[in-house]
This record gives sequence, C-alpha cells and structure tokens, in this order.
Amino acid sequence: MKFLLGIDIGTSAAKALLINESGEVIALAGEEYQIDSPRPGWAEQDPDSWWEAAKLSICKVLRRSSVNPKRISGIGLSGQMHGTVLLDKNLRVIRSAIIWADQRTKHQCDQIYARVGRQRLARITANPVAAGFMAPTLLWMKENEPKTFEATDKVLLPADYVRLCLCGEICTDATNASGSLLFDTHQRHWSAELLEELELPSGVFPPVIESTAVAGRVTRQAALETGLAEGTPVVTGGGDQPIAAVGNGVIAPGDLLSTIGTGGQLFTPLDEVVVDPQLRIHTFCHAVAGKWFLMGAILSAGLCLRWFRDNFGGSYAELDREATAIPAGSDGLLFLPYLIGDRTPHMDPNARGMFFGVSLCHSRAHLIRAIMEGVVLAMRDSLEIMKKLGTEPHRLIASGGGARSALWRQIQADVYDMELTRAEVPEQAAFGAALIAGVGTGIYESVEAACQKTMTYSPPTYPIEENVRRYQEYYQVFKGLYPKLKDDFQAVSELR
Ligand code: XUL
Repeated sequence: MKFLLGIDIGTSAAKALLINESGEVIALAGEEYQIDSPRPGWAEQDPDSWWEAAKLSICKVLRRSSVNPKRISGIGLSGQMHGTVLLDKNLRVIRSAIIWADQRTKHQCDQIYARVGRQRLARITANPVAAGFMAPTLLWMKENEPKTFEATDKVLLPADYVRLCLCGEICTDATNASGSLLFDTHQRHWSAELLEELELPSGVFPPVIESTAVAGRVTRQAALETGLAEGTPVVTGGGDQPIAAVGNGVIAPGDLLSTIGTGGQLFTPLDEVVVDPQLRIHTFCHAVAGKWFLMGAILSAGLCLRWFRDNFGGSYAELDREATAIPAGSDGLLFLPYLIGDRTPHMDPNARGMFFGVSLCHSRAHLIRAIMEGVVLAMRDSLEIMKKLGTEPHRLIASGGGARSALWRQIQADVYDMELTRAEVPEQAAFGAALIAGVGTGIYESVEAACQKTMTYSPPTYPIEENVRRYQEYYQVFKGLYPKLKDDFQAVSELR
C-alpha cells in the first residue's frame, strides 16, 4: 500500500493529512498560529510560523500513523491565497507576510484601476482589484517601506514558502499566481504588460509550474526536521480554494462548491476563461490543467458567528441549537455580514456589518439565525452573477466548518434552492493536496481519476419549498440594502 501526504497552510492553522491510495485517512494533525494586526485593518503572519506549524503537524502525523516515511510516495501543498512573502537574496524572510485578509491598500487598489484601467485588467487578469492581493501589497511596500522593497529578491505566496522549506525550490503555480493580479490568467504566465505598467521588477517573481508537477524533493535538512524521508517527491499544489475544490471532487463545470469557513466562497469550475465585465467576481486558474473557475468571496462568514460567540457567549453547538428554534427569515431580521469589508460583489473594504429590522420581538436566538442567513444571502449574490455569466451549476457541495451544522446546510439548500451534499472527508484542502500529490507521482492517472477513486458524499439535504419562497423575498430586500448604505459606510470609515 502506498501513502500520500497533504499539507494545508490555512489562515489559522497548518494541517497535515496522511491517506492511503484508496483515500482512507490514516492520520490528521494541525497546529495553530496567530494573525498579527499591528494596526486596525492590517493582517500579517510570520512565514516561519507556517513552517514551524507544518513541521509539528508532519511529525505528529508520522507518529500517529506509524507509517514508515519511505512508503510516502509524494507530498502535496495547499495554502491560503493572495498573501505576499518577501525574501532577500539569501532567501531569508525580510518581514512578516501581508496576508489576504489585510485591508490597508484601498489607495493602491484605486491606483491600479487608474493606471491599468478596468478593461485592460479584465483582459489580462480576468479579475477585480482587491485589498490583500499581491499587486496592491507590493505597491504599498514600494511607497511605505522602500528599503524593504529594495532588499526584496524574490516574492512568494504562502504555500510557495513552505515548499521552499521542504525541497529548496523557488516556484509557484498558476492557481496562486492568478490570485496575484499580476498574472495573465488566460495564457497562464506572469504579465509583462502589467509588471511594466506598475513598475514592478519581473526578476522577483518565481517560475510558474502546473499544480500536478513535481517541484522538487525533500531535502536532508527538511527530512531531519520533520521525520520525512529525504528525496520524497514534493508536488507543487496550489491555492487553498482550488485544492479544496479537488478535495471535494469539484472539478467540472456544473459543480458548485459553497464553503463557509472564516470567509465564505462560492466556486464553480470552467472549461474556458469567463470574465465578469463588471469585475464583481474572481476568475482564477484551477489546479486541473486547462481549467479555470469562477469564485465569489465574502470576507467574513464563519467569522461573523465567531464574533457573536466571542462577545456574547455560548459554544457553536449552543448557538446552533438556539437558532434552530427560530423560523426561516428570523421574523423579519436581516444581517449584512461585511464585518471586515466585502469582496463579491461590492469590492468595498469600507463596508461593515448591520442588523436591519430589529424589533422588540427579536431575541438573542434571532440574531444568531439572522447571522447564519445573512452569510448565505450574501453568498447568493455570487450565484446570481455566475448564472448571469452563463454557467449552469446543478450539483451543490457544502464545505468548511459551516457545513458541519445541519441548520446552516438547510439554509444553504433553501437560499440557493438546490439539493446539497458534502464530501465525507475531513480537511478537504489537505485531502485535495494529498490527491494532487498522487497525480504528480503517477498513483492516479488524472485529478478526475483521483476524485473518482477516493470520494464519497453524504445523503442530500433537500430545499424546503416554503423556505425557498420566503428567502426569495428576503433576498430582494437584502440586495437593496448595501447600495443604499454605500456612502454611509464610507462616511463612517472616515470617522473611524
Ligand atoms: C480566496 C481567499 C481566501 C484565502 C484563505 O480568494 O482570499 O479564501 O485563500 O483561505
């Protein structure tokens, strides 16, 4: 029996997952790290904390499984997207990485629109500009920390840094590079045109290889530090969204993945590049060669419930029980989930959360249910855009921590008006990374074959007709709220 190891560098923890070639999970371990916020709206992480956590997780998995490391055929990687790791010419980390959740670059985002123009951006990157992405971060660095910028010899994304630590190779992949805003998403290479327009040095960007290619082999040093066998192939992998999609079996058009984690994402694969002319939604390269995907992202999904739990008490299980007792629609209470700004569809770092329609009849339990509903109503905005762009999603899969709640699954089935299932594997990003490792090392013929061989799904959750009708009405009110409040969000951000 052969074994495969997947490593996911998430936003709050690194995870390592060992499977056998049939896809059975042999061992799983995770190790948390911090997000540093030196100023409001800033989000940074020390890349070495990712590597330390990855090493500890690998050691734990090897110990728990008692599998001889020499029987691990390959290691695959997945990582949080968009973040920027700066290395000097000795490949040492120069400063903390600025990660995807960072909101400091509104000014640089506006600058990119002004310099490049929306049409040219759509033509090259297929994407809107968003704070926390590599392009605005590098412009911010140039303006605000010029010495750091000058000392930068290489720029990597989070999974790339951990790959470098494992196998000594500098590279990235098309899924991660297409989330930088400096990449030609159609042709799958760095865009010389954009780098020139934004005056960024092309030499700092790493070579781009496909996710299923072998990037290198575990070095002696990494073997000593992790317990892995020196020389084990390291398969490139990619961004956590496309790799988790692989771990959910979401690789063909018609599939729709709804993830409620810290943030929320709606994801559908594409056979060709489709661009939203209004730039409200992302189009990135998929981890499957020759495929892309549309993805709508809201920045706070599970984060909204965590905010409630941390401030007003209760465990997630208790919050879930309380909300279950409230009828669909929370008796007229609506919640906007933009606690740290919004990406799809509003692309507005100044947007903020709101309870709308609070009345004397509303209790704490109503607030909880309204939060859960507001998150899904905000994600429905992405589904509407996907449908307008001509995609026809018909198989819905729920993923992330939110999919563990039967109530949140039912709300998704009702708001999207689609039957819903979920993949029966834990930690889909790490699982997807392990599958990709299997494809790269020839254990599976293709990503499709890997998914077919290993994936099973839970029984479906069906939409409840009455709730579908009710949420349809609530959605009409919900989608009217942000446009009416846009200027007020801006005014409040200036007061802040
Ligand atoms: C995707 C995104 C996040 C990060 C962290 O666009 O910003 O999902 O990948 O998970």
